[in-house]
Amino acid sequence: MRGLKDKVAIVAGAAPGNIGGATAIRLAEEGMKVVAADLNEAAATTIAGQIRDFGGTATAKAFNITDEASYKELIEAAVSEHGTLHGLFNVAADLSPQNIGRDSDVTTVPLDVWQHTIDVNLTGYMYGIRHALPIMIGQNSGPIINTMSSAVWMGEPERVAYQASKSGLVGLTRHAATLGGKHGVPHQPAVPRRHPHEDRGGNDDRGIPREHRRHGALPATR
Ligand SMILES: NC(=O)c1ccc[n+]([C@@H]2O[C@H](COP(=O)([O-])OP(=O)(O)OC[C@H]3O[C@@H](n4cnc5c(N)ncnc54)[C@H](O)[C@@H]3O)[C@@H](O)[C@H]2O)c1
Repeated sequence: MRGLKDKVAIVAGAAPGNIGGATAIRLAEEGMKVVAADLNEAAATTIAGQIRDFGGTATAKAFNITDEASYKELIEAAVSEHGTLHGLFNVAADLSPQNIGRDSDVTTVPLDVWQHTIDVNLTGYMYGIRHALPIMIGQNSGPIINTMSSAVWMGEPERVAYQASKSGLVGLTRHAATLGGKHGVPHQPAVPRRHPHEDRGGNDDRGIPREHRRHGALPATR
């Protein structure tokens, strides 16, 4: 990765052992100034500490992606601290057994699971785009990266809320790319291929069954 030194990125969903945490560390290794953010403040603080330990630049901030004011405050804090914002990685999700573990099929999914999953994976990502895009348009920066899933393309008999929320991100990302692209702000979908927590068989360490962990790839778009 070239050209990242001294650029500023928010990783929204950064904790030890997860995709956001690993990405925050990798970006910092490239010289980016990273704001590691998560619902779990201690987890984000650990990531920022790990970055500072190797001489990188990072701060931590608690935020709740389902709360627009909280996401706005995160973005404003990053800009206030660093004077600018070059990249936003939307990567938070609630993959807990209490949420995705109860995400069944369309005939049975509890409405609280449906609503919370949409709130985190779709509306929350929209909040980030809504408040980061005007800043990025003003300075021709970017990208904004939204984390999707191969669940978008694969029919699955379960996890209807997860599939619907991630599918909604396709339209959200295309819309934002159309809006931002004219001003030099690219948008990218990211589709993780492998679960960082997964073992070689059975369930992962949060009880997500192997059949729920099939991942694919998506060609990058603006
Ligand atoms: N891990 C995979 O193999 C895989 C595959 C396909 C897609 N994805 C997607 O990649 C992303 C990251 O996956 P992961 O495995 O690292 O997940 P993870 O569960 O390990 O991490 C998600 C993070 O989001 C945070 N979070 C949850 N609710 C939040 C809220 N309301 N506000 C702020 N933060 C909140 C959690 O605290 C956690 O740190 C997710 O969007 C997931 O759907 C992952």
